[in-house]
Amino acid sequence: DGELSFSRSMINSSDKVIRKGGSSIFQHAVEGWKINNSLVLEIRKNILRFLDAERDVSVVKSSFKPGDVIHYVLDRRRTLNISQDLHRLLPEVSPMKNRRFKTCAVVGNSGILLDSGCGKEIDSHDFVIRCNLAPVVEFAADVGTKSDFITMNPSVVQRAFGGFRNESDREKFVRRLSMLNDSVLWIPAFMVKGGEKHVEWVNALILKNKLKVRTAYPSLRLIHAVRGYWLTNKVHIKRPSTGLLMYTLATRFCDEIHLYGFWPFPKDVHGKPVKYHYYDDLKYRYFSNASPHRMPLEFKTLYVLHNRGALKLTTGNCV
Ligand code: CTP
Repeated sequence: DGELSFSRSMINSSDKVIRKGGSSIFQHAVEGWKINNSLVLEIRKNILRFLDAERDVSVVKSSFKPGDVIHYVLDRRRTLNISQDLHRLLPEVSPMKNRRFKTCAVVGNSGILLDSGCGKEIDSHDFVIRCNLAPVVEFAADVGTKSDFITMNPSVVQRAFGGFRNESDREKFVRRLSMLNDSVLWIPAFMVKGGEKHVEWVNALILKNKLKVRTAYPSLRLIHAVRGYWLTNKVHIKRPSTGLLMYTLATRFCDEIHLYGFWPFPKDVHGKPVKYHYYDDLKYRYFSNASPHRMPLEFKTLYVLHNRGALKLTTGNCV
């Protein structure tokens, strides 16, 4: 499947474009962008060889009973007990079963979104996927507010909600989840040990407050399958980032995928500083080999796919 292999030279040439700060080249590629439907179908078909997003997006109730013990996906020596609460919140069927959309937005969390004016455009998509419970209201003009599917790493509880140490943190969290109505809240609870207490607190708050969000917990095989797909296409990613996971899943449901907020570089094409996140002061951590992600490599891959019409990457302003 030559169509899909990312040769080293393709990735290197896009690397040059990015490093040169070639805004005109990049802008040109954005303006002349056109979807390549046959490539979209080809990618969907190839990804389906590794995973079925409808199924792998979440485990379902019937797969477990309370008290079952599972091994963490990325740390097989350690185990987790399926609690009563967790079991109650597992969906009966996949929350993405039979859902199909003409256009989807996958919104990453880069500071490149600030002053982009992309909010309206993002919200105009049929299905909007966001990452890590990123705040939207205060940034609506740039990021929009629609959230049909939102991810939440357990670490978010600590990072953005004070570890639920006091009542006001918990209230803030409940308010954030209430805004989601019946959207999908996707919690990677089985990846590594460390966040289990946070997941339990989240589960308890959802149940206690009878929140409508539809919880989903990725299958035990998802991350390996996604990694396998990209490895087969010569993209050597140790551990796919949430954003890349979301794009990979979205290929199953969406005919046209638009990415926003993907820019893992501390400067924009004009040399202006770009915050790592649009909403907090987290610093860039992804340039050392020790980090699990290879976002710059992921970005280059997405850029190649953009140029070939498989997806649309927006890194500039929308108006
Ligand atoms: N992202 C990006 N450039 C940035 C920040 C984020 O391209 N400067 C994309 C990445 O694909 C990332 C996604 O947006 O996975 C969501 O961002 P974030 O919440 O920061 O993800 P992380 O928590 O850093 O990474 P992960 O949860 O995947 O470990």
